[in-house]
Amino acid sequence: MDLIIKNGTIITAADTYTADIAVKDGKIHMIAASLDAPEGVEVVDAAGKYVLPGAIDAHTHLEMPFGGTTSADSYEAGTRAAACGGVTTVFDFVIQGKGKGLIESVEARKALCEPQACVDYAFHTAITDLRPEVLEELEKSVEYGVPSFKVFMVYKKEGLMVDDGVLAAALEKARDIGALVSVHAENPDLIDRRIEKFLGEGKTSAWYHYESRPEFVEAEAVKRAIHWAKAFDAPLNIVHLACKEGLDEVTKARDEGYQITAETCPQYLYFNKDVYKREDGRNWVCSPPMKGQDSQDALWEGIKRGDITTVATDHCPFQSYEKDWGKDDFTKIPNGCMGIENLYPYMLSEANKGRISFNKAVEVCSYNVAKLYGCAPEKGTIAAGSDADIVIYDPNMSFVVSKDNMHSDVDYTIWEGVEMTGYPVMTFSRGKLVFKDGEFVGEAGWGQFVKRKGNK
Ligand code: URP
Ligand code: ZN
Ligand code: ZN
Repeated sequence: MDLIIKNGTIITAADTYTADIAVKDGKIHMIAASLDAPEGVEVVDAAGKYVLPGAIDAHTHLEMPFGGTTSADSYEAGTRAAACGGVTTVFDFVIQGKGKGLIESVEARKALCEPQACVDYAFHTAITDLRPEVLEELEKSVEYGVPSFKVFMVYKKEGLMVDDGVLAAALEKARDIGALVSVHAENPDLIDRRIEKFLGEGKTSAWYHYESRPEFVEAEAVKRAIHWAKAFDAPLNIVHLACKEGLDEVTKARDEGYQITAETCPQYLYFNKDVYKREDGRNWVCSPPMKGQDSQDALWEGIKRGDITTVATDHCPFQSYEKDWGKDDFTKIPNGCMGIENLYPYMLSEANKGRISFNKAVEVCSYNVAKLYGCAPEKGTIAAGSDADIVIYDPNMSFVVSKDNMHSDVDYTIWEGVEMTGYPVMTFSRGKLVFKDGEFVGEAGWGQFVKRKGNK
């Protein structure tokens, strides 16, 4: 035995109970009402605290070339911040290089990530170039441990967008090989037309980022993607869902029995489109943008109903000087926000305030994520045999987010001043303490690649 966590209230997606946990060789070895610690074994007293599975942030963009620059958190900074926010597994997006293979693209990013990762990591691949041999490579990618792919329905100029033919081909293939396709759903033609119109009218503030891609622009693409998934009877995951109309379509498809899942992000649950009216509104520019209050309310209802199955961050931060490039022209603002360190504390804080149960917060931030993406039961729960990815949470602690108490490399946070009721006090990654009382105590290179299973 290496570690015993005593007297804590264990909360999983399904249960809440008081017990002791023994950890051995990075795994949860045993859970029992009372465990005695042999001589020399470290004991953590979690009396009065909650003991939770580490969160899994299934949507990050670390040191990703994008928007004319590279996202500001390296793999080290991003996974360090993750550890300090109770995230013990990070899923990063690999963008398939044009003319490159899928596994080749993953291996290049893996080589970059490996020496830096402070917590465990996995990858999704964003398909940008679905040549016939790449379509065939999808199956090898599943065997390699990367059974999930993202398809961008936008970012034409950035060279990331694929057309509906590619989306349909990916869906069909993924269905046959037990893989999962996720989409970034917005209508690119509408966005382009609206941008051109607003710039022509001299409407250049961050508000017009929202106006160029409002609710109906996202909703149309969500409906179109679901239409194709239904046509091919293929599983489909809508990432960073931000609008009510899109969610309604997800709900309808799920009620009809289709394998449609949806992810939303903490920024859509906390902020609404009014942030773009602020003088510093550019800091909240991401795509899809925050929407109206009715969408935000619907997203929370979707979580409660179970139609939104996962919550992840879309962590893609840029420094304020980079956001400032778009001070006088919203089209020059690099798209993306931060949140990797805020995801779990925010969702747990909402649970603490009674909006959702703690079990629900664990379900959407950890359990469902592991299940959907093929890394359960090693990840996503507290059970004998699972990885000892554990967060100790103090429900009575007050915490106010500030750039100075965050652990990423970014020089501001959109979460500045947000008050959390309760906060993580310790994070263990496979039994190793990586965060304690506000400090990162882990090490770069500790994190391991999570080889995931497909659904066949
Ligand atoms: O604005 C965003 N979301 N940036 C990251 C790339 C993406 O679309 O997920
Ligand atoms: Zn996206
Ligand atoms: Zn993203």
